[in-house]
Amino acid sequence: VPSEGGVLVRNLYLSVDPAQRGWASDRSNYLQPVAPGSVMRGLAVGIVVESLAPSIAVGSIVYGFFGWQDFAIAEADEILNCESHPELPVSAYGSILGITGLTAFLALEKLAHLGSGQTVLVTSAAGAVGSIVGQLARKAGCRTIGLAGDEHKLRLCTESFGYDVAVNYKAGPVGAALEAAVPEGIDVFFDNVGGPILDEALRRMRIGGRVIQCGTAATQNWDPAPRGPRAEREILTRRLTWSGFVIFDHRADFARAAAALSAAIRKGELRYLEDIESGIQCAPQALSNVYAGRNKGKKLIYIGQAV
Ligand SMILES: NC(=O)c1ccc[n+]([C@@H]2O[C@H](COP(=O)([O-])OP(=O)(O)OC[C@H]3O[C@@H](n4cnc5c(N)ncnc54)[C@H](OP(=O)(O)O)[C@@H]3O)[C@@H](O)[C@H]2O)c1
Repeated sequence: VPSEGGVLVRNLYLSVDPAQRGWASDRSNYLQPVAPGSVMRGLAVGIVVESLAPSIAVGSIVYGFFGWQDFAIAEADEILNCESHPELPVSAYGSILGITGLTAFLALEKLAHLGSGQTVLVTSAAGAVGSIVGQLARKAGCRTIGLAGDEHKLRLCTESFGYDVAVNYKAGPVGAALEAAVPEGIDVFFDNVGGPILDEALRRMRIGGRVIQCGTAATQNWDPAPRGPRAEREILTRRLTWSGFVIFDHRADFARAAAALSAAIRKGELRYLEDIESGIQCAPQALSNVYAGRNKGKKLIYIGQAV
């Protein structure tokens, strides 16, 4: 039974996010670790079946921290989106209107300072966040270079997501590949993975460049922390701004960003890709598969058959 201001949600789509690997560790990062034996923390899209929230009607589609479970009691602060978007399929609440689309839009808006003619490098460029970043940067008049891990993803980058150049970072040394792809240097590096690719990209930034650290998908375990070349000399001499971004700091902007993304889709200016499996039993392996690059777009698990 929900408390005053809360709702009972029947989950339809569970969101599989790389961040869950960090939440399911024994060290807190920007959120407390998930306690062993408790419901796995996760975002989900669901339908409201009981409501004690004056602004949310029964039957509304909502998105928020509802966990990997069939039903959830959600307090008001766990609901991230309860706006109506009938123009898009229900799954879109967990993909383009969810944290992946919102992260691409808001991290670029707040940190990239894009200018026409600038060069933007994106890692995991065919992924849920990266595919949107590439399209938005291209729309802003930038030259876009995407890194991805297989030939199918490279084709997606150039044929569907508007990248000027796509590079397979697994095909050879990344430094040489970047040298060939961005001889002019990089103005904005939107980094979803960190690790050795970041080490190489930092050494090819232009003076005054911006590095947006959105994710660290190249590293599955931070204990012990991996070692790499030192970065301070690059930051200093190239006058770089290296910013961390966490989407949950920007909740006040979610509705505005979701409306802008939805409008861009309606106008045919933005494409998004979803990779949907069925059944809650798929969820743990799906998270592992995302780290192995086996997802083709935003990974969601449909569990709505019992509605
Ligand atoms: N900061 C925030 O608020 C925020 C919000 C949402 C997401 N994120 C982060 O954004 C990143 C992308 O998330 P997403 O949901 O869009 O996932 P995604 O990009 O669809 O999937 C993750 C991708 O990472 C790539 N990858 C895995 N290991 C790699 C490695 N060692 N080197 C290079 N690439 C590797 C794989 O693509 P390839 O096959 O191309 O290697 C994989 O498909 C994640 O790091 C996530 O944590 C951050």
